[in-house]
Amino acid sequence: MPGRGFLADLEERAAAVLDEPVLRYFRQGARDSVSTDEAPAAWAARRLLPRVLRDVSVVDPSVTLLGHRVPGPLGIAPTTLQRAAHPDGEVATARAAAAAGAPMVLSSNAGATFAEVAETGVHWWLQIYLGPDRTAAVPLLRRAREAGARAVVLTVDTPVVGTKYDPGPAVWEVADPGWLRVNHGGDPEPGPGGDKATDLGPHDIDWLRKETGLPVVVKGVLRADEARRCVDAGAAAVWVSNHGGRQLDRVAATADCLAAVADEVGDHAEVYVDGGIRSGLDVATALACGARGVFLGRPVLYALAVAGEAGVAELLRDLSEELVETMRLLGCSRIESVRADLLAPGSHRSTVR
Ligand SMILES: Cc1cc2nc3c(=O)[nH]c(=O)nc-3n(C[C@H](O)[C@H](O)[C@H](O)COP(=O)(O)O)c2cc1C
Repeated sequence: MPGRGFLADLEERAAAVLDEPVLRYFRQGARDSVSTDEAPAAWAARRLLPRVLRDVSVVDPSVTLLGHRVPGPLGIAPTTLQRAAHPDGEVATARAAAAAGAPMVLSSNAGATFAEVAETGVHWWLQIYLGPDRTAAVPLLRRAREAGARAVVLTVDTPVVGTKYDPGPAVWEVADPGWLRVNHGGDPEPGPGGDKATDLGPHDIDWLRKETGLPVVVKGVLRADEARRCVDAGAAAVWVSNHGGRQLDRVAATADCLAAVADEVGDHAEVYVDGGIRSGLDVATALACGARGVFLGRPVLYALAVAGEAGVAELLRDLSEELVETMRLLGCSRIESVRADLLAPGSHRSTVR
């Protein structure tokens, strides 16, 4: 796709430099990858109705996320094995995010220490899975808080790890043990593929909030009624996600679920989204569907693979520039004005309720 700058063929360029099991791990979805494959197209299927005769001389894409002002709505979703993409892994991502002012969500399975990430000055949140024994997570939570994590992101779509079909060696067979779970300090918390709680409930949101004193973001919600349960239990934000299609295959695209969730809880909590976001147009569409924050998973891994910190910086810069151009063409000078009326009839409502 000539002319699209750094975003053009990013995945293909990453594919050229990554070991096959690592690339397969990054790309793969659960089972037949139906949901993974559908995600980008679900954003592109929506149509826009721009406003005209608006003053767009100055466009300000800044927004607050959990009370913290950021230059734009884009953030980094938690992903494991960033050090398999590039030796500097999460530290390179954190440096690029810090320079751009973008928030970064650090996977609880990360291969960089909390201190290394915090040292970059990035605004960061900790993602966590809870295991059967909730108290096993307490030391990790305490260390994250002491190191400067500003929120906890509880991933709730993983009572078990969704099956992936691996035709060759699984990534775990080639991964360096130092790429994973370096913050667990030998605690018996569950690792990738390890024990996950199968009895998570709304009370766990309340427990996490009290245990950490931090805002709790619930990641992996697709239904409006479940979003309501999260907010009633004390969630500060609900993150519409299907885990990049890596958990239950054939789940609805986040683009098709977002508006219903935002309509249900958007007045009481922040609403975020991820899954298949690949352009500034996608970001603007997500904002119009009701998202306040929009997060990137695989593109960050591919950008890391291609050019490390500089790659992630370029990814964030290109997406922000495209968002600003899109806002200008939509007739929006501020993020708050990117609203549902910008979606053409038929693109407006969630197709899932
Ligand atoms: C390789 C990989 C590892 C991931 N690891 C985690 C993780 O540790 N915790 C988590 O909550 N989500 C994880 N995710 C899901 C992402 O946070 C995010 O929901 C998803 O990648 C968004 O879709 P996108 O890749 O199309 O942007 C992972 C995704 C990928 C691709």
